[in-house]
Amino acid sequence: MSISFQEKERIFTLQTHNTTYQMQIDPLGYLCHLYYGPRTAGSLGHLYRPADFGFSPNPYASRYAPQHSLDTMPQEYTGCNTGDFRVSCLAVSGEDGACGAALRYVSHAILPGKYAVEGMPSAFAGDGEAETLTVTLADEVTGLEVELYYGVFAERDVITRAARLRNGGTAALTLDKAASLCLDFPFGDWDLIHFQGRHNMERQLTRTALTGGIQTVSSRRGASSHQHNPFVILARRDATEDYGDCCGLMLVYSGSHRTDVERDQTGGTRVVMGIQDELFRWTLAPGQSFQTPEVLLTFSHQGLGQLSRNYHRFLRENLCRSPWAKRRRPVLINNWEATYFNFDTEKIVSIARQASALGVELLVLDDGWFGSRNDENHGLGDWFVNEEKLPGGLDALISEVNGLGMQFGLWVEPEMVNEASDLYRAHPDWALTLPGRAPTMGRNQLVLDMGRADVIEYLYQRLSDLLSAHNIAYIKWDMNRSLTDIYSRALPPERQGEAAHRYVLGVYALLERLTARFPEVLLEGCAGGGGRFDAGMLAYCPQIWCSDDTDAVERLAIQYGTSFGYPVSAMGAHVSACPNHQTGRTVPLDTRAVVAMHGTFGYELDLNLLTEAEKAAVRRQIQRFHRYYELIQWGDYYRLSDFTQTSDYAAWQTVSPDRGEALVSIVIPHVRATTPLIHLCFRGLDEGGVYRVTEFAAFHSGDSGLAAQEEGKEYTGGALMYGGFVLPRLYGDCPSVQIHLEKVQ
Ligand code: GLA
Repeated sequence: MSISFQEKERIFTLQTHNTTYQMQIDPLGYLCHLYYGPRTAGSLGHLYRPADFGFSPNPYASRYAPQHSLDTMPQEYTGCNTGDFRVSCLAVSGEDGACGAALRYVSHAILPGKYAVEGMPSAFAGDGEAETLTVTLADEVTGLEVELYYGVFAERDVITRAARLRNGGTAALTLDKAASLCLDFPFGDWDLIHFQGRHNMERQLTRTALTGGIQTVSSRRGASSHQHNPFVILARRDATEDYGDCCGLMLVYSGSHRTDVERDQTGGTRVVMGIQDELFRWTLAPGQSFQTPEVLLTFSHQGLGQLSRNYHRFLRENLCRSPWAKRRRPVLINNWEATYFNFDTEKIVSIARQASALGVELLVLDDGWFGSRNDENHGLGDWFVNEEKLPGGLDALISEVNGLGMQFGLWVEPEMVNEASDLYRAHPDWALTLPGRAPTMGRNQLVLDMGRADVIEYLYQRLSDLLSAHNIAYIKWDMNRSLTDIYSRALPPERQGEAAHRYVLGVYALLERLTARFPEVLLEGCAGGGGRFDAGMLAYCPQIWCSDDTDAVERLAIQYGTSFGYPVSAMGAHVSACPNHQTGRTVPLDTRAVVAMHGTFGYELDLNLLTEAEKAAVRRQIQRFHRYYELIQWGDYYRLSDFTQTSDYAAWQTVSPDRGEALVSIVIPHVRATTPLIHLCFRGLDEGGVYRVTEFAAFHSGDSGLAAQEEGKEYTGGALMYGGFVLPRLYGDCPSVQIHLEKVQ
């Protein structure tokens, strides 16, 4: 049993393999958080020692006990306007306009298996893999009931949380905020690690020491955003890649979100995470419920590397229900950077022909195949093939591609519409626009109101028709602007605060229906690259296009940051043309492949323009990728360098779960003369085992005999992990190396 309730002290204990989570019902019924950290046994009730802090008020029943204050008590889920001045989870008011709630324990249940989250994606468990604790709290006056869910995945070291808010009263309630959780760390100096960025430079790791006050990580863009990923880590100040305590919180949600991290007067640190409350308002009639999205928690006592590996395994095994989640993904060629909108069947087939000869398995036809879509300004919404570009329609092209032994994939951007489209002309009211105002434009397109049932039905029919009429093996699902002018013509004035969340629920409902009907179609998420790279989308899309920036050097930083929460098997990564279209930089073809291989590998360039030598290199890259596929995609991932500290080189490693083999990749973005040699401590090996270098693939302009020198050498795991490995000097522009190790003893 990983969940227990100790009646006498009224303590709940959640145990995973390496962690313990504990909370206690206090004498007044408030649910007090005690501990989340390395696994331990016994009661931790002593950790909550009520103490008087002036001006921290008291529940009425505690008016003679100034040390009892909700303002200083660590909590699992807060009420509002009743004496806790820290960031709260909730804002609820009744018909009289009174905003207030004090949540107290009503009941609990311990159940086998994992709870479900209604209307939104959430983690799932295999047989016997998880247990659920539900704790019901209620506010006496409003009748609001809050059911807290805890899913305990003992072997994965993951605890999931969510909340369901039910109006158990007799009058309507209004929610102005409904977060997924509160997680209080009563003690310790923590750093906040979060992943911020912008289009073409997503998920850049940022680490800041928490001081008094609140730090907010949030999106108001209607999507999880390029700017702030809904994933944060609290790390003890001394925590490193391999050492120390850190706790991750990852929201399973793809819309606007908000995480507040507050360091309070008691020295405690509070995290409140959930849906963005700005522009949010939800009405709950008596008996109705509001479901919050889920948060995936993991705690590591062995630093950030272990925290990441916990997430990688969990997202691979327990989040995405697609059969593709654990299947080998095809190496693909995408025509976007090869042609942009300027293509026809002949052009695409010529790329496909080259690709198939080199070993590529899937051709993806990107934007521009439908309606009047010859540029960014037209056609979105009209998901009918443009026969002027593609005579004979999709089938003619698909049969050519299939005839070359390749599968066919298609780009769509279902949530959007151009004013210049038949769809918009027929249904202008389907777009999100504010009454009486010219809409704010993004890429000269509008956003469909995905909260509307008729919009979802239309898109379901259109996409189903496409998928059932043609042999489409893969869909790239794009979303190329942020939501503005959020106003739904399907909702009454008093419910406009629901539109943004209903949008996300609509996206999920559509994905749910389509994936149920077409489970074999491989979905790749995308939002102008990585603008919706989150656990919500990953529940449907086993892979997401990581960034529109395909420059291999830029990708080092992007994929580095992404790796803290998300596995290699989730990161769409392609080899593109040089000079690179985003930066103008030229990186050798093999180094581009080393970087893209640590994602879902593919190409995005006109292969017709490659020389014979380059084509031979591509063939070798694909062969190498196949050789190491299992290791790269499903192995344990170790970051060997800290890209925020040194951009001189980037190094990472994957190790097979049985530690029988490992692959180390190193890229040197900028070679300098006579610098100190690069010294790396490998990780995750069997220290007593002996490893042989079976491949030393150096891509550089210097000594071509390095492979012969290095291959066949043997080292103990301990020698490579503790002594380390000294890389011979590499020369040229942006060289790279891949070192494959096999355990021979
Ligand atoms: C977005 C995607 C690109 C490409 C274009 C097409 O920017 O991220 O990969 O599909 O749209 O318009």
